[in-house]
Amino acid sequence: MPPIQLPLLLSPLTLRTITAKNRIMLSPMCQYSAGPDGVAGDWHFAHLAKFALGGFGIVTTEATAIAPDGRISWGDLGLWNNDQIAGFRRITDFIRSQGALSAIQLAHAGPKAGSQRPWEGKGPLGPEQWNKGETPFASVGPGDFALEAGYPSPHKLDEDEIPSIVDAFAQAALRADAAGFDIIEIHAGHGYLLASFLSPVSNTRNDGYGGDRAGRMRLTLEVARAIRSNWPSGKPLFCRISTIDGAREGWNVEDSIVLAKELAKCGVDLVDCSSGGLRDSTVLANAREPGFQVPLSASVRHGSGVATGAVGLIIEPGHAEQILSEGDADVILLGRQALYDPFWPHHAAQTLQERSDFEGWNQQSGWWLRHRARSLDSVGLAPNGSARHAAR
Ligand SMILES: Cc1cc2nc3c(=O)[nH]c(=O)nc-3n(C[C@H](O)[C@H](O)[C@H](O)COP(=O)(O)O)c2cc1C
Repeated sequence: MPPIQLPLLLSPLTLRTITAKNRIMLSPMCQYSAGPDGVAGDWHFAHLAKFALGGFGIVTTEATAIAPDGRISWGDLGLWNNDQIAGFRRITDFIRSQGALSAIQLAHAGPKAGSQRPWEGKGPLGPEQWNKGETPFASVGPGDFALEAGYPSPHKLDEDEIPSIVDAFAQAALRADAAGFDIIEIHAGHGYLLASFLSPVSNTRNDGYGGDRAGRMRLTLEVARAIRSNWPSGKPLFCRISTIDGAREGWNVEDSIVLAKELAKCGVDLVDCSSGGLRDSTVLANAREPGFQVPLSASVRHGSGVATGAVGLIIEPGHAEQILSEGDADVILLGRQALYDPFWPHHAAQTLQERSDFEGWNQQSGWWLRHRARSLDSVGLAPNGSARHAAR
């Protein structure tokens, strides 16, 4: 019998010296659940542990601020001091114990710092938060104008203030290594600090960090280089971008292809292709159908030759497999689908391989589920409890 071909989605992926057991990556998702010290606690542990149990090859920690004033909300995680390392160590140790890799997204919210948690309204911090001591952060940006109505105007970073931001990313990288992370993802998307420097809509500077595309890319590339020099050479470095910012005359796919090539020269191994987020008024015009951002990943991958991640309403395992097999991405990122089904990778393996065993599940669940499946099978029911197909 010929060997059974493993679906690409379930095949290992080696980047530098590290191998992910499959190509399924948890997309970074802010939990807005840290205290003012930005320390990862029980919530973050439980939240991320369940995806390691669920079979994700790479489990990513949310956008984690490299400076206190770089937080999106007062509930953000941080990695701006050494006291924040231990909480992450507990998480990365557990993720590793489940055979998964751990990633952390390092971020500075820039002009978007100081937002309400989504369930508080997602707007700028207001009296309700101020009364709890959650006062506005000292936000910074490429210019001194707010991107969204109602937000305080950020401080326009002077050229000589920028090196300290780059250094804060580099210091956070050292702490990420001490915390045991396998992968860093730089957050250069969604209108936050690095994205705000990339887009001509938000970056109207005419100094060395603005003007033409090269000037606007400079901060992101400096951050990538600084992180790379503080990050072990065997460990992969990813960068999330807004492949298009969604604005007319804004940052576009062609820009992203150039950026991806430059990022690769700085030691970035994979570009995670998201989009939008510069401000609400630049929300993408296209419908948000499953895989709506896959063409962006495909364009960057084919145009730059750099590995990419596809993200955005990827729901079905068969679709994920198709994206990979058609060469449109190297990694599939799941956000909300993972919240809906933290065991998605295990379920995807069953679907793609037409298996009803519980191979690969941890024994604490798998042993029981195998026995349960046998009982269900004997009365004509599938492992999910539904009636088996009549023809079978
Ligand atoms: C609760 C939540 C928090 C998010 N936080 C982040 C974040 O920290 N960093 C980031 O780059 N994207 C963040 N996103 C965007 C997701 O990573 C992902 O790109 C987006 O949800 C689209 O993928 P999906 O359709 O699979 O959810 C967040 C999304 C959600 C739903």
